[in-house]
Amino acid sequence: MRLRRELFRLKNQKPLPNITFIDPDGTRRQFEATVGQTLLEVGQENGIDLEGACEACMACSTCHVIVDEEWYARLEPSSEDEKDLLDLVFNLERTSRLGCQIHITDELDGLVVSLPRGHLNLQDG
Ligand code: FES
Repeated sequence: MRLRRELFRLKNQKPLPNITFIDPDGTRRQFEATVGQTLLEVGQENGIDLEGACEACMACSTCHVIVDEEWYARLEPSSEDEKDLLDLVFNLERTSRLGCQIHITDELDGLVVSLPRGHLNLQDG
């Protein structure tokens, strides 16, 4: 993925989107992302605690993130299926989203998301 990101940077001659993850203890970590990746992929690639147990099939909610208020309205709206799953997540917030459903674009440069205190794998019943 890092090679793909370098090629993308050289080809497009513009900076890559930066994404900030905030751990439950307040630790902030910022990473470069590639346009087209999902937020879940960015997190997993950089060791963020996002399991993604269902591999983006919208069945587990282990990719739950809480989007910074400033950024929430700039995201593509949630689908009905995503909203239905979010209704079942642990620690639901008004700006909760599934990381597997957020696709990185240039416009999301600067996106800030927080990790909830714990995830519930809804596949476990
Ligand atoms: S990875 Fe399972 S809902 Fe996102």
